[in-house]
Amino acid sequence: MITFPQNFLWGAATSSYQVEGGNANSDWWHWEKKAGKENSAAACRHYELYEQDFDLAQSLSHNAHRLSIEWSRIEPEEGKFSQEELVHYIKVIDALRQRGLEPLVTLHHFTNPLWFVQKGGWQNRRSVEYFLRFSHYIVEALAEKVRYWITINEPLVYSYHAYILGVWPPQEKSLFKALQVEENFLSAHVKAYRLIHEIYRKANLSQPAVSIAQNVQAFVPCRPILKDKFAAFLRDRWYNFRFIKRLAKQQALDYIGLNYYSRQVAEVKNWGLDHLIMDTCSSNHHPVKRNSLGWDIYPQGLYELLLKFRKFNLPVIITENGICTDDDSLRWEYIAEHLKSIHAAMEKGALVSGYIYWSLMDNFEWDKGFTPHFGLIGIDYHTYERKIRPSAQKFASVCRTGTL
Ligand code: FCB
Repeated sequence: MITFPQNFLWGAATSSYQVEGGNANSDWWHWEKKAGKENSAAACRHYELYEQDFDLAQSLSHNAHRLSIEWSRIEPEEGKFSQEELVHYIKVIDALRQRGLEPLVTLHHFTNPLWFVQKGGWQNRRSVEYFLRFSHYIVEALAEKVRYWITINEPLVYSYHAYILGVWPPQEKSLFKALQVEENFLSAHVKAYRLIHEIYRKANLSQPAVSIAQNVQAFVPCRPILKDKFAAFLRDRWYNFRFIKRLAKQQALDYIGLNYYSRQVAEVKNWGLDHLIMDTCSSNHHPVKRNSLGWDIYPQGLYELLLKFRKFNLPVIITENGICTDDDSLRWEYIAEHLKSIHAAMEKGALVSGYIYWSLMDNFEWDKGFTPHFGLIGIDYHTYERKIRPSAQKFASVCRTGTL
């Protein structure tokens, strides 16, 4: 049996666009139609059903919940802020608190207001200023009710899909543009970090905890030869550590939010841009079980990464970890194995203080639509009925007892 600390954060995550439905002022809403993709439409109708969903999270013994605020609802037109939508999110946060769920609030989770992308999106240097204005509006209103903030979800996943692979809006394929976007994300985070702290100081509130959610992957050499080891080493540095290192250097992190799902097998011959992060090796040298999107399941990678992150000497929260599968017993195996990895890393000094599963419920998985099922809770998309899966019950027992 393994035991986690008493005040450990246990919960699950969602993001506004993936669950709320009807986000008609967002860039993604327009893109999914233009690109002929599956439409997010009503998604899980979480915008109306959030209380019911939080009842379920509470019944599953969660003590935390990660969610995001939809910028395009708050600021549907440039500079015009919707008081009504702000009130909605205040109610959402209150609903969490009433159920004993600590909110972890993300300010940017992949989607943007349409007006913002019409002005060049994250490529535009002024994106930083726009994001700060929105952040100011939200944080000032929620500061008394929220302690944990995530400014930007997975900046590198966003820039990679939207500006290198060109599979997400605005479908660019340019390393130069991707790097511009990254610089703007970096500056947006650092400035938002300072702004959030200043808001709390001025209001005499105790210190907030601010981070980004950094996606990390285990890069494993394809063959045990020096060249492949080097290929894995470079990707590890470039993808997992570079951005966080720069934020840490600027003292703009109170903790580190890590999203971990899978590994990539790195091979020296694949140096094209498309291979920088994903699909580095197509030959199946070291077969492991996979999720329904074909991502390798590799809990050991999380252990190894957590050991490497010790050097920052900051608390770590696993802000996402999860599996899409129609085999719910595999979901439980995935959760249990990753929890064991986390615990083993903690025994070696990793400062992990929470585990947030992705996702509370099945939802709209971006360009992949509704087919991947990541949820602890299943959704019937005809009736919007929720169904708790057995894996959710098993995870609930860990949340309740702190033991596995
Ligand atoms: C992460 C995203 C999240 C979800 C999971 C499966 O990269 O942050 O929104 O799509 O992957």
